[in-house]
Amino acid sequence: MAKARTVFICQNCGAESAKWLGKCLLCNEWNTLVEEVIKKEPASKGALVSSSQTSKPITLEQITFTHGERMDTFYQEFNRVLGGGLVKGSLVLVGGEPGIGKSTLALQTALSLKNFKTLYASGEESLQQIKMRAERLNLKSSNCFFINETSLESILNESDALKPDLIIIDSIQTVSSDMIDASVGSVSQVRECTSTLLRFAKKTHTAIILIGHINKEGNLAGPKTLEHIVDVVLQFEGDHNHSYRILRSQKNRFGSTSEIGIFEMQSVGLVEVANPSEILISPNEEKLSGISIGVTMDGIRPFLIEVQSLVSTAAYGTPQRSATGFDTRRLNMLLAVLEKRAGFRLISKDVFLNITGGIRIDDPAIDLAVVTAILSSNFDNYINHQYCVCGEVGLSGEIRPVNRIEQRIREAEKLGFKKIFISKAGLKNITFEKYQIEICPIGKIEHLVKALFS
Ligand code: TYD
Ligand code: MG
Repeated sequence: MAKARTVFICQNCGAESAKWLGKCLLCNEWNTLVEEVIKKEPASKGALVSSSQTSKPITLEQITFTHGERMDTFYQEFNRVLGGGLVKGSLVLVGGEPGIGKSTLALQTALSLKNFKTLYASGEESLQQIKMRAERLNLKSSNCFFINETSLESILNESDALKPDLIIIDSIQTVSSDMIDASVGSVSQVRECTSTLLRFAKKTHTAIILIGHINKEGNLAGPKTLEHIVDVVLQFEGDHNHSYRILRSQKNRFGSTSEIGIFEMQSVGLVEVANPSEILISPNEEKLSGISIGVTMDGIRPFLIEVQSLVSTAAYGTPQRSATGFDTRRLNMLLAVLEKRAGFRLISKDVFLNITGGIRIDDPAIDLAVVTAILSSNFDNYINHQYCVCGEVGLSGEIRPVNRIEQRIREAEKLGFKKIFISKAGLKNITFEKYQIEICPIGKIEHLVKALFS
């Protein structure tokens, strides 16, 4: 008979405690411990040793492994983030805010994988809702099976019978196991279901995609241990007011975590954006001031982005500084540098900054684009739209080198820019002759101002 065991589990970090505490000892959160009953046969020592399924230790040569065990997900952007396709037998967790497009991405993938059998288990949407969505996406597949189920055991039984290549579970927070006497979505349910699914994936060689909710802090709901269990953790993010969505890898046991995939949410679903620079720069032939193009990088992917700024006379005593897609503290720092080192009177001006496309940039290489956009608006002098900039601005007004500069130069060249302004430092290894684009090394902001505006 299964023996019932009750433990108190922190709903924030997943820490277990034998008795109730007001404050979790691990994450220091208050009132997060909830009593949960676990019906589990404690594994006896004898059973472990005598189990006929114990695996034998083998050498590396004895391990059978065939290359190319990856499934092409049809979407190149998705494949790229996964490290070249979905690995068979892997457990992938896709997290993101509600309404960002997780279910859409999962459904598009399921319906596009025509050569693979897919089981789509939804606990969040009815089969009619899924059908409506599929019609909107204009996708059909006779190899994709749907089930509206929240019981883990039922899903696994169906999978045993159907033998799909891929199982999609939307979402892991709605699935529950009969083995655990805890409410749906609680830490022990989510953790136990994920571990069971991991074992199933490895045993049957089935790829499983789990969709996960995120909490208000932006972390995946459920304990951190969930991220330790799965093979790949992907985060789907974007601004609700914009249509661009970025798929980012936070953990990947089969590839790099520095790859990103970019999609655009359109009326027909998610459309891949193969060349982000082309959409992040408006094809503006007019001579508008306050616009500068910077070369930035997300992970190892370079792209060019438009930075817009508006500098106006402050109407009130304290000038306003507002930034969208850029850190306001860093903006204040850059304004202080301009004030102190380059002698610009920006203290009595309101400064507004916007990074186009609703994308957030943390790459310091965008500093130079921010500074030049502000100066361009301040002087009301436009920057030639065939010029771009790339560099970090130091506290003494010096332009500092950034990583992977050659990759960035190549991207600017590919997009037909004529000149790129970069830091004077760290140019030793760059062969200027091999680029069509003119490379202009700059040491200080004052020199850049001369080169751009006079
Ligand atoms: P959804 O995939 O349901 O989000 P999640 O599963 O992450 O909660 O995405 C829902 C949003 O996507 C919804 O606000 C409408 C939008 N959408 C489109 O703009 N076009 C489409 O073709 C589809 C299917 C959804
Ligand atoms: Mg959904």
